[in-house]
Amino acid sequence: MKTEHLSVDPSSPDPLLIARAAECIRAGGLVAFPTETVYGLGANALDPVAVGRIFAAKGRPPSNPLIVHVAEAPQILNIAAVWPETASRLAEKFWPGPLTIVVQKKPTVPDLVTAGGPTVAIRCPAHPVARALIGAAGVPLAAPSANRSTELSPTRAEHVLKGLGGRIDMVLDGGPCRGGLESTVVDSTGPVVRVLRPGPITMPMLEQLIGKVEMTSREPAQPGEVARSPGQMARHYSPRTRLRLVEANDLLEDSIEARRAGLQVGSVSFIRPDAGLAEVVGEGGRHISLTADPEMAAALLYAALHRLDELGLDLLLVEIPPDTPEWSAIRDRLSRAASRN
Ligand code: TXA
Ligand code: MG
Repeated sequence: MKTEHLSVDPSSPDPLLIARAAECIRAGGLVAFPTETVYGLGANALDPVAVGRIFAAKGRPPSNPLIVHVAEAPQILNIAAVWPETASRLAEKFWPGPLTIVVQKKPTVPDLVTAGGPTVAIRCPAHPVARALIGAAGVPLAAPSANRSTELSPTRAEHVLKGLGGRIDMVLDGGPCRGGLESTVVDSTGPVVRVLRPGPITMPMLEQLIGKVEMTSREPAQPGEVARSPGQMARHYSPRTRLRLVEANDLLEDSIEARRAGLQVGSVSFIRPDAGLAEVVGEGGRHISLTADPEMAAALLYAALHRLDELGLDLLLVEIPPDTPEWSAIRDRLSRAASRN
């Protein structure tokens, strides 16, 4: 299959192009589109055959459920069996935006979307292209990140094409995603809201609105172990190159050591001053100094890892950012990227 690449204005996409993509969705096709977090791979959430194509294109295990994307809050009426008070307050405050809310599902939602489970994850994205596409399609979109299973999420259309070119019908290219890390996922089905995946909406932001919130164990499930909640497999968000996390203070020394062992090294830093690092990784290696600002770092992280991954190096050494709420999503993704499982 040839993947059609359509460039659209990210803030006011051409309605004719959106109509073409929406037609493709209604016909059961797969369309990658930008959101404010990462690119999603969309299909009609109410069409099990179309949803099946998402799993096939990504090589995603059917045990990992998908997020259903809506353009307007009232669309949830057809999807959620119960809409708890906390969900309603969270949606009012953070939608449209990078928050995904898990609630009990209605039977209209195909089992494939929810991996056979009784709950469904719902998100209302803020990106104008995503909103226009869902609106024009007239159906909710099941959309995981538009990458092969376990690999890095895409923050640009080029990343989507690198992983899924030839396997999907179309990509709407709206340029780089602003946020750069996947949405926060919260489970709103119990008495206390639980964070299943840390993201741009941080614990303090949630707690300020609804009081005490629980964080699920940060230990990702090991292979062979039943995940406590879906999507918590250890290996995820991974570049193909081996990635190791190192304390800020050890980054320079560990790079030197790896070089001495004859490895071609890439490195990424956030907080630590990078004096010396570019020299250490040397020719053939590459050091990328991101930024000590967590929001900006989130926006740049995956593009940096995609770039380093393309160099075919032996090892990526990445500084572990501080253990504070603003860095929590980055720490979570990096620890999964570093997992060999
Ligand atoms: O920012 C995002 O959330 C992006 C954009 C495209 O919206 N989407 C995304 O989807 O990251 P995906 O499929 O890569 O990650 C969805 C996460 C997975 O960890 C999945 O297990 C979890 O949400 N999830 C989905 N449905 C769930 C459910 N019913 N219960 C618990 N977790 C669920
Ligand atoms: Mg994903």
